Amino acid sequence: MRVLVVGGGGREHAICWKLKQDHPELELFCAPGNGGIAAIATVIPIKVTEIDLLLGFAKQERIDLTIIGPELPLSLGIVDLFQEAGLKVFGPTRRAAEIETSKAFAKDFMARHGIPTAAYHVFTHLEAAVKHVEESPTPIVVKADGLAAGKGVVVCSTRRQAAEAVRASFASNTKVVIEEYLAGEELSLMAFVDGETVVPMPPAQDHKRVFDHDQGPNTGGMGAYSPIPHMGEDIVQEALDKILTPAAKALAAEGRSFTGVLYAGLMLTETGLKVIEFNARFGDPETQVVLPCLDSDLLSIVSACAEHRLASHPAVKWSQNSAVAVVLASGGYPDLYETGKPISGVAEACADSQVLIFHAGTMFEQGQLVTAGGRVLAAVGLDTDLKQARQRAYGALSQIRFDNMHYRTDIAAKALARIDPNHVTN
Ligand code: AMP
Ligand code: GLY
Repeated sequence: MRVLVVGGGGREHAICWKLKQDHPELELFCAPGNGGIAAIATVIPIKVTEIDLLLGFAKQERIDLTIIGPELPLSLGIVDLFQEAGLKVFGPTRRAAEIETSKAFAKDFMARHGIPTAAYHVFTHLEAAVKHVEESPTPIVVKADGLAAGKGVVVCSTRRQAAEAVRASFASNTKVVIEEYLAGEELSLMAFVDGETVVPMPPAQDHKRVFDHDQGPNTGGMGAYSPIPHMGEDIVQEALDKILTPAAKALAAEGRSFTGVLYAGLMLTETGLKVIEFNARFGDPETQVVLPCLDSDLLSIVSACAEHRLASHPAVKWSQNSAVAVVLASGGYPDLYETGKPISGVAEACADSQVLIFHAGTMFEQGQLVTAGGRVLAAVGLDTDLKQARQRAYGALSQIRFDNMHYRTDIAAKALARIDPNHVTN
């Protein structure tokens, strides 16, 4: 079988790794891939936004199944394009992906269908939005309507900050969502969906801020762990019953039937789970901790989704392992950073068979692995409990070096402190 994965980050490395793990014989292609993916797949220099070139490649190479990683090609309609050409593809259509690509659509959709989320208003005029924040209690949250790679959301503690955020949002958006601040603990819950059948994955927790103790600006994600010891089956069931299944059914009923991974970013509040955002794809870096704990065959699951037969697919099985991923980032990220820095120690870090190093922003330059992005690598530790998984991840990354490398030292620390209040993390 010939499979194409679209994307080139840590998420796509994890997807490619899992596919090859289950099917060493698979003919795997990845566009554009990265320095790590190149070791297990044929990397193709086509950008994720060049959807016509990707279609041409898939046709010419007789690709049997294409798996879409990032949101950008989904927003451009890559799934619609492949389906119109009669090709099998895993991911939602452009209209279904609007659950992620338009926050205004997502909020109105949740309101229409009684899916719990923060109270909100959508604004199309700057003056009205500024007046609203000047009259609202703080904290308050300002969100740009379109895709913003995790940077379109500002949690504002003062009205003045909120007014500034509104002005900045309107500079590049025609719609701005202003919503109630939700207090609580966040979790990411992803599910395989083939229209109406929804199969949840174990919950994960992302660490979005750049510095320890959740300080500094938001990033694409500095680390993650899964499962969450203090969030059990009851929480997954509540999310399934009140959020994921109603969302899939309502999307289908509105003529936007969703196939792919539906990702709910959730807040566990005092009054139950509420949706912070939906994504229309695998999370990054959540995928790097969730897929290594998938015992079942990923290719078989995504094929069943693409063929709308998930309901009759054998039960999806997960290992009892915990996984912790720590992202190694370039100095300066999420703002300006330099690339082209030589990376050493990756082979040494992989010497532990319960460690995986997923590449994000890497490439080879004259045979040398070098940095090529903000998030460079993720060190993933796997073990029977979270504490040991975490030790493995940090043990592995201590072998890796590149100029100005930085990472958070407190990934999964809060969860461990809950289990063992004497736990010292760094
Ligand atoms: P998003 O891009 O929508 O996931 O938002 C980025 C981050 O902003 C989330 O992970 C939350 O930490 C925070 N956030 C977004 N919306 C809210 C909200 N209504 N209340 C509190 N925090 C929020
Ligand atoms: N980890 C957050 C995201 O994938 O959007």
